[in-house]
Amino acid sequence: MDLRDHIRDIPDYPKEGIVFFDITPMLSDPDAFRHTIDCLAEKFKDSGATKVVAAEARGFIFGAPLAYKLGIGFVPVRKPGKLPYRTNCVTYDLEYGTDTLCMHEDAVEQGEKVLVIDDLLATGGTAEGMLKLVKQSGGDIVGIGFVVQLGFLNGSEKIKDHEHCFLVEL
Ligand code: PRP
Ligand code: ADE
Repeated sequence: MDLRDHIRDIPDYPKEGIVFFDITPMLSDPDAFRHTIDCLAEKFKDSGATKVVAAEARGFIFGAPLAYKLGIGFVPVRKPGKLPYRTNCVTYDLEYGTDTLCMHEDAVEQGEKVLVIDDLLATGGTAEGMLKLVKQSGGDIVGIGFVVQLGFLNGSEKIKDHEHCFLVEL
């Protein structure tokens, strides 16, 4: 199955000049969605990871079923003010401006093997933020997986020191 066939290109969203790569067709097709999770699971089945870390909102869609399939834990990374217990937060650069993400301070243990998962790598700012959060907790990043990479934005520079993979490269 070619997963590219299940990604819809939306020109000029959210603003003029940007092409938005919409993964909702992949989600609404049960075979494509299952195939996506199965491919990620195949790539990471021998990683030794005991947690998947993923950021809201689209990272949850792939991270949670992957954790279920691998039989490991899931850790939500969220915007400030959304997690109820004590958090560590990081502010990271995006193409324009900055953003902040937070994780519960006890979600990843010292030395724990972690997979970082997201739907799409663009500038790599979000991924870099998640890596910082995991490292702050003492976690060992054993793999980073994305469904889609936008190669022309060079986001992979920010994750080059870790094992990583993409299912679709654009
Ligand atoms: C999107 C996407 C990635 C991130 C990629 O999330 O889901 O997390 O952007 O861009 P980057 O590599 O430049 O950081 P967004 O912040 O739009 O939030 P959403 O998941 O809530 O839609
Ligand atoms: N997240 C950041 N840039 C994106 C894009 N061009 N399409 C879909 N999601 C994105």
